[in-house]
Amino acid sequence: MASAPMSSKKLRVLLIPFFATSHIGPFTDLAVRLTTASADAAVEATVAVTPANLPILHSLLERHNGHAAATAVKVATYPFPAVDGLPKGVENPGKAAPGDAWRIDVAALSETVMRPAQEALIRAQSPDAVITDMHFVWNAAIANELGVPCVKFSVVGAFPALAMSHLVFAGEAAGAATSSSVFVPGFPEPDIRIPRTELPEFLRRHNKVAAGGDSPAERFFSSTADGFGLVVNTFSDLEQPYSEMYLRNGHVRRAYFLGPLSLRPSPSPSPAGTDDAVAAISDDWLDSKPNRSVVYLCFGSLAPVSDAQLHELALGLEASGKAFIWVVRSDKWSPPDGWEERVGDRGKLVTDWAPQTAILGHPAMGAFVTHCGWNSVLETVAAGVPVLTWPMVFEQFITERLLTEVLRIGERLLPDGAAGVRSTRYEECAVIPAEAVARALTAFMQHGGPGDAARSRVMSLAAKARAAMAQGGSSHRDLLRLLNDLIEARGGGER
Ligand SMILES: *[C@@H]1O[C@H](CO)[C@@H](O)[C@H](O)[C@H]1NC(C)=O
Repeated sequence: MASAPMSSKKLRVLLIPFFATSHIGPFTDLAVRLTTASADAAVEATVAVTPANLPILHSLLERHNGHAAATAVKVATYPFPAVDGLPKGVENPGKAAPGDAWRIDVAALSETVMRPAQEALIRAQSPDAVITDMHFVWNAAIANELGVPCVKFSVVGAFPALAMSHLVFAGEAAGAATSSSVFVPGFPEPDIRIPRTELPEFLRRHNKVAAGGDSPAERFFSSTADGFGLVVNTFSDLEQPYSEMYLRNGHVRRAYFLGPLSLRPSPSPSPAGTDDAVAAISDDWLDSKPNRSVVYLCFGSLAPVSDAQLHELALGLEASGKAFIWVVRSDKWSPPDGWEERVGDRGKLVTDWAPQTAILGHPAMGAFVTHCGWNSVLETVAAGVPVLTWPMVFEQFITERLLTEVLRIGERLLPDGAAGVRSTRYEECAVIPAEAVARALTAFMQHGGPGDAARSRVMSLAAKARAAMAQGGSSHRDLLRLLNDLIEARGGGER
């Protein structure tokens, strides 16, 4: 049936992201992609969020401004459950008080809490296919009852996702006291070793022996295999030896590598809204800076950075003498006395949303100091900008190894041992002093320095990313394969 003509009826796809903006973003991009995938495969994509996340979804769609496909994407809502200790209307970890974000994660992983509203949503929408976030493992069972395919969508890459999965099943993370670091089993060269303090919280607590082989983490990672297949926001050339393991090791039945989803199709002109957003920084300021001279710093919306660390970072940027754009998401912090005057026009402090894709795409960009969140990784790869890594939470320390040890498109901001303890726990992190920040920036960005070698590697990946997303490229082919598979599955269901 693969060559049968497309049905005249639209393929209706329902997408259900986790509540964080870093998930809603790629789900929105995927919905836009699905509606533009092919001239003859008509797709109606609906993204479902809870009410408080609706404005975020709308503004994400607006950033595809003027793109007909973005206006064609439909939006649905379903109620957010009552969660103990969480104020009403707080439905996004980025909007929660720093001590409360975990409550959203715990709720999202609970079938008892989440399933009723999502099941009602799926039944009411009655789609031809469901694309769900990894958190919501029960959606595969619901889709199965309705006789429609359920595809999981991983918004992090194969390397960090499979490293965590391998650590859970090998029990390498068991018995936190036995050694100070773990080795990721089943990965090709180079060997990846990670100090325990840098592991995500669930792996630091994970004890395979005590759990008797049936811990929540094991149930979560084995559920990847449930359902029709897996979509990953990555591209084959970025992490092929790792992404190939999904199928080879039987983690999933079908795998589709569709990224970087944030990379807009190349023939389309830059949308008007993006130009407006970047105008303030770009036109007057970035344009005036020499090529490859500006440092961009952004640590995402979820990682708490202490005031003491922000203070040292400010002084370090001042001492480095480099031009910089620094995104600080803290409404209570202000820079040291006299700092803004001393830095003057050399630096920009951004306290709101920053047009990251446009900033990274500017020729003045010299280096990206990043927390290694997966969306930022894809954006810097697509832009060809080398990185200095400063991971903070979740799987970010694992992803750092992909960047610095496998792809070698950047370096750790501070080498091993130089910074005191690095940790996924806020209270354990050593403060990195100003002098160390200044030294790292100067060394990395000096002419003929390590930044140049990293840049040539990341620029070659950028070309591969664009080729993957272009017509006939690997990500584009995988998108068409996904659509064909879903259309064929519908054919079977209607029989
Ligand atoms: C800066 O980069 C732009 C875009 O890559 C290029 O067109 C221009 O020639 C460069 N300028 C200098 C002085 O190298």
